Amino acid sequence: MPYFITTAIDYANGAPHIGHAYEKVLGDVISRYQRLKGEDVYFLTGVDQHGQKVQQTAEKEGIHPATFSKKNTKKFLKLWEKLGLQYDGWAETTDERHKACVQKILTKLEAEGQLYKKAYKGFYSVRQEQFLTDKEKNEQGEFGSEWGEVVEIEEENWYFKLSEHTDWLRQTVENNDLEITPAFRKADVLNALDRTSGTDLCISRPKERLRWGIELPFDPDYVTYVWFDALINYISFAGYEKAEGSDLPDFDYWWPANAHIIGKDILVPPHAIYWPCMLHAMGFSEKQMPTLLVHGWWNIRGEKMSKSIGNVVDPDELADRFGVDALRYYLVRDIPMGKDSDFDVERLIMLFNTELANDLGNLLNRSLNMTKRFLDARLPETSYDDEESQKLRKSFTESVHAYQESMELYDVAKALAALNNHISFCNGYLERQRPWELAKDESQQDRLAAVMYHVVESCAHAAILLSPIVPSASAKIIQQLQAEELTSHLKLSDCQWGILPTGHQTGKPKPVFPRIEIEKNED
Ligand code: ME8
Ligand code: MG
Repeated sequence: MPYFITTAIDYANGAPHIGHAYEKVLGDVISRYQRLKGEDVYFLTGVDQHGQKVQQTAEKEGIHPATFSKKNTKKFLKLWEKLGLQYDGWAETTDERHKACVQKILTKLEAEGQLYKKAYKGFYSVRQEQFLTDKEKNEQGEFGSEWGEVVEIEEENWYFKLSEHTDWLRQTVENNDLEITPAFRKADVLNALDRTSGTDLCISRPKERLRWGIELPFDPDYVTYVWFDALINYISFAGYEKAEGSDLPDFDYWWPANAHIIGKDILVPPHAIYWPCMLHAMGFSEKQMPTLLVHGWWNIRGEKMSKSIGNVVDPDELADRFGVDALRYYLVRDIPMGKDSDFDVERLIMLFNTELANDLGNLLNRSLNMTKRFLDARLPETSYDDEESQKLRKSFTESVHAYQESMELYDVAKALAALNNHISFCNGYLERQRPWELAKDESQQDRLAAVMYHVVESCAHAAILLSPIVPSASAKIIQQLQAEELTSHLKLSDCQWGILPTGHQTGKPKPVFPRIEIEKNED
């Protein structure tokens, strides 16, 4: 089955931060999980290169916005490569194919009477370059000094008849045809709909104010409002209205998106209000609506990450310092789906050291070492079984089941907890079975073989289940188990007990998760 997944496209207005890294890693984890299930996956991600912020920052640096956004785009590309993201499509909004699609859509909407031009008179902040409403007034009923000089101006712009689609949208949200995960976010959308009803969406900016955007095909004095442009990336790069001979994907095959991964800040109004209404105006039915997957935010000591506070965490640096596996693991392990969490380097180190280095790393190391020492690195035939081993297999079955259940709900943290439960069980099992003592007793050879099989087989499963999260560590485990051929075409549904056949030869153990040692004065 086709599985089309996207993330938000990040503003190419600076360098990527851990919030960006989290979202893209989450997208990659879900994509890899779906591939493991055997689905045909298309993972689209990219950068949002237009808009006022980019133009302003570029001007400050004295360079052209195109040069500036290209320069930042490279930082994202470099980081995604470092973090091992396996994406199929790269969306850059300055791409000619995207621009052509946006203009086609605008032309069609204008021809069908979905757009109109109107003069708007209002208060405008010169410093922030935006119109102000009563909402921006302070308690004294004035625009505060943060807005700088405020002038009353009249400006003509193009509007999209959003209000013609909001009744339809309300129904579509209420019916769950526009699916929003986690479900508690649905209330936010319905509330926001109450606030927006009756208003239309301004989709243009006069070029005197903003030049850095996609020109309106029917009015060259204007560029397209950045959100109207950016949202369309989800379909333009999926091949919607693509040109003859284009190498973009087959839209009818991939659409609707199984998951649009976005942060909570961009749910309303852009993704849950503007976007479905735009699609509806283009002729998409409620059955063709994407599913919105809304994640929470990484904060720093309870505070929002921000350039002005100076608490922005650089994922590039973290990956260099702790390794890609540790960073990927932490980003999806220490945040519950949909909720916020505090980014804490000490927890990153602690979780890596306990769950990966100690629990899984030791299990793998001991299992392979003992198999080598006691069984000549071979898993012999055995007919031994006992209650402890049955319990281990039960723990295995339950853990795979719980892992899958949580992954289906995009709750990677919970899926990892399920996997880690089984790893802990295996370590306890080794302690109780004491293979080092069985090895000394000729009459216990059958039992020894059974014990080693149970732990080595569990390591193979752990590697497979971890492959979406820490793909490179998983590959190392599989390599040490000498199970590359056995697992290379394996699907999740094949992950039944008994992947490793009798007589299987195991390899040499090498630490996959070297403990992170921190000098006390380093932080
Ligand atoms: O909003 N923790 O771009 P953006 C988790 N270009 N996620 C975070 C985060 C944090 N601290 N900070 C940001 C935009 N994000 C638009 C999107 S889509 C058509 C256009 C998430 O660079 C944020 O929620 O500000 C969003 O999903 C993504 O990073 C890009 O944010
Ligand atoms: Mg933002």
